[in-house]
Amino acid sequence: FPARCTAHRGPLLHCLADPGMAAEPEPGSTQWLEDGMLIVDGARIVACGPAANLLPRLHPDTRVLHWPERLLVPGFIDTHVHMPQLEIMASYGSQLLDWLNTYTFPAEARFDDPDWALAQANLFTDLLLAHGTTSALVFCTTHAQSAAATFHAAEQRGMAVAAGKCMMDRNAPEDLLDTAQSSYDDSLALLQRWHGRGRLRYAITPRFAPTSTAAQLTKVAQLAAEHPDVLVQTHWAESRSEIEWVRSLFPERADYLDVYQHHGLLGPGTVLAHGVHIDDHDRDRLVETGTRIAHCPTSNTFLGSGLFDLQAAKRCGVTLGLATDVGGGTSLSMLATMAEAYKVSQLRGQPLTPWQAFYLATLGNAEVLHQQQDTGSLTVGKMADFVVLDPASSPILRLKQQRAQSIDEQLFNLMMLGDDRAVAATYVAGQCRYRRPDTGSGPGP
Ligand code: GUN
Ligand code: ZN
Repeated sequence: FPARCTAHRGPLLHCLADPGMAAEPEPGSTQWLEDGMLIVDGARIVACGPAANLLPRLHPDTRVLHWPERLLVPGFIDTHVHMPQLEIMASYGSQLLDWLNTYTFPAEARFDDPDWALAQANLFTDLLLAHGTTSALVFCTTHAQSAAATFHAAEQRGMAVAAGKCMMDRNAPEDLLDTAQSSYDDSLALLQRWHGRGRLRYAITPRFAPTSTAAQLTKVAQLAAEHPDVLVQTHWAESRSEIEWVRSLFPERADYLDVYQHHGLLGPGTVLAHGVHIDDHDRDRLVETGTRIAHCPTSNTFLGSGLFDLQAAKRCGVTLGLATDVGGGTSLSMLATMAEAYKVSQLRGQPLTPWQAFYLATLGNAEVLHQQQDTGSLTVGKMADFVVLDPASSPILRLKQQRAQSIDEQLFNLMMLGDDRAVAATYVAGQCRYRRPDTGSGPGP
């Protein structure tokens, strides 16, 4: 390996495939190296394996960063998060539809100010990195400039971000509404400007069925059909009152999913957030069309929406990922999100294994977003998006990790008790983009 490479040495953990739902991961689906090495040439990984094998192949001038007390893992991916909702996290006392009217829409209206939009987009991307998240599928506001600001901020940080301007032409305050035609025009202009620029991708973003007329959904479908490589994101079947409302707004449609299916919005490029209140008929239609679900556990518990049935979705073969849904969600940390997914599964009598949770937050989410060629694991040829985790980042984690008998236990401790304090450093495309301020131990970026 040429001298220009950088090597990161330390314990290393990633998934190579879906480990399944059983306590023991599928053979060959995970790789744990107690003394591993990741060799990075520019933005990409050129080697990943036991340090003992790779050390002799390094050029003597290669910079080696040694992280003996850390854990190298792939950068986390968040498959559903709202850039403009940071300030309404932890808003008290209401469920989805009231929460939207009381807190969300007023906060989103502030994004008609371009300075505010840019400041929030910068804060948002910095916070993603501080939580170890290097890729995300992001909702913005109705204002085109909120999406442009998000793309700007992500590009400056080298992140693989897909985002879109929210489309809504009814059932929201006047100053947040667009029209079927203007939402098409604005989305198209953003798509042409940003989609495929470096690591950025556009995502066509109708908010959800209640805030779009049938005319707007038709324009959404037209835009998606004209750009088949562009993602589509929306919300679906999150709360019971939302589902009732959709029934009254679209009486001619069989059910909520049929609203999207009828308008040609289902397919492998579509990510539906939530899908809490659904049945096997819904799951079959997701599988037949290749449509994906983003499971958002901290949001579903915080807003009192319901308990997602992860086991049923996996059993039916639905492609699904894990997401924070901030500001409905209560943390940007994918570790905290894994913990909440475990608790939601527990309430359904089905413990979620740390392997499946870790897979969902990394390689599983990469597959949901069709970016597994470049992200989600530390495999040779992928972009060097990785996180240096501190497995003993708090007194309780330190105590627990001293007693852990296996990597399974260590991972479960991290998932249940870890948060952004466990992120010692975040690398994006080989560059250090975040360094935890307080601790002096370990090498510099
Ligand atoms: N449904 C429609 N809009 C939203 C939103 O902003 N957050 C959540 N959690 N659900 C929604
Ligand atoms: Zn959402």
